Amino acid sequence: MQRIAIDDLESGMVIARTIIASDGRALLNENTRLNDTFIHRLRLLGVMSVYVKDGLADIEVPEIISSRVRASVSATLNTSLKNFALKKTLDMESMKKLVSMLLEDIITNRNVILHLEDVRSYDDQLLMHSLNVAVFSMMTGFSMGYNEGKLVELGLGTLLHDIGMIMIDPDIIHRRDQLGNSESEIFRGHPEIGFNILRTYREVSTKVAHIAYQHHERFDGSGYPRQLNRKQILEYAKIAAIADAFDNVISDTSSRQGYSANDALTVLRKLGNTYFDPEMIEAFASNVAIYPVGCLLSLNTGHIAVVTSATKINSTRPMVYLICDKEGQLIKPPYAIDLQQCNEVSIIRRLSNQETEVIRTKFACQQKLN
Ligand SMILES: [Fe+2]
Ligand SMILES: [Fe+2]
Repeated sequence: MQRIAIDDLESGMVIARTIIASDGRALLNENTRLNDTFIHRLRLLGVMSVYVKDGLADIEVPEIISSRVRASVSATLNTSLKNFALKKTLDMESMKKLVSMLLEDIITNRNVILHLEDVRSYDDQLLMHSLNVAVFSMMTGFSMGYNEGKLVELGLGTLLHDIGMIMIDPDIIHRRDQLGNSESEIFRGHPEIGFNILRTYREVSTKVAHIAYQHHERFDGSGYPRQLNRKQILEYAKIAAIADAFDNVISDTSSRQGYSANDALTVLRKLGNTYFDPEMIEAFASNVAIYPVGCLLSLNTGHIAVVTSATKINSTRPMVYLICDKEGQLIKPPYAIDLQQCNEVSIIRRLSNQETEVIRTKFACQQKLN
C-alpha cells in the first residue's frame, strides 16, 4: 500500500485502510474502489491523503490500537470535547475509561510497532492529535518500564494536553503557522489555560495538569510558557513533548503532506539534547518500525524486497517478499523469505521514495498486462 495525496488520487484506486471520522464512523472502508464522487467527498471533508493498494504488499498491517477501540475512543472523546466547549465541564471518569481502553490495547499489542501514520480530516485535527499523543506517550512510558498507575496518569494528561486550545479562537489555531506577534501570544497561552482547567478537577493529580502546562517546554530552556529546562520539566511532560512533536510532523497540513514515521523520527533525533530528552526519544523510537510494511529494501544478494511483516522482535530483520532479481527483472510470483532465518542475507538500505515509485510503476504496468 502507499499513502497518496488527495490531488493525486484517481478513479479506480482501491482504499487500503479504512478512514475513520471523529464520531467513530467509517468514512470509507478498506477495499472501496474510488470514483470521482468519493474523491470529491474526501476533499470536502478536508482529508489530505489516504492509503491505497499498490499490488506490492497489500496485506493487513497490525495496529497498536485496534480500529474498534480507536473508533469507540474517538466517538466518546468527540462528544466530550464538544460538551466541554459548551458547558466547560469534563467527565473525568469517562476520560479515565478511554485511557484504560487504549492502555489495554497497548499492553496486549506490546510487540506491534508503528508502521503507518493515520489519515485524518482537517476538522478532526485536535481530536485525532490528542488521541495519538496519548497513545505515543503511553507506548513510550511502557518502554521505559512505567507501571499501570503511571501509564494512566501519563495517558490522561496527554489525552487532555491541548484542552486549552478549545478556549482559543479557531481561526488562530487554523493559521498557527502564520501568526503575528499578538496572535502568537494568544496561541501560546493554551498550555496555561489547559493547566488551569485540569487543576480544578480533584480526581486528577497535579502532575496530569502539569503535562498540559509543560508540553511546549524544551530541554534547552527555549520552550514556552515558562522556559523551564531539562531539570525543571516533569518527566511526563518531556514524553508528551516528543509525542506531540512527532504527531505534528507526521500529520498533513494545508501546505504539506505529513512525513513518514521514519522521517519524522530522524527530525526528532536531530533535535535531541536541544528540544528533547535523547533517552526518551530512543524509548519512543523502539516503537517505530525501522522498515515498515510496504517499504522496499535493497539486499546484499542484489535482490529488491518488499517488507511484509515486522514486529518489535524482528524489526531489524523483517519478513519480506523478493520482488526483483539481480538483473532488475520482476520475480513472478514474489518469493517470501524470513530474514531472521537467513543469516547470509543482509539489508543494504531502504530504497528512496523515487526508487520505490519506479518499481511500483513497473509492477502496476505488469499487472495491467496480465
Ligand atoms: Fe499544545
Ligand atoms: Fe499538542
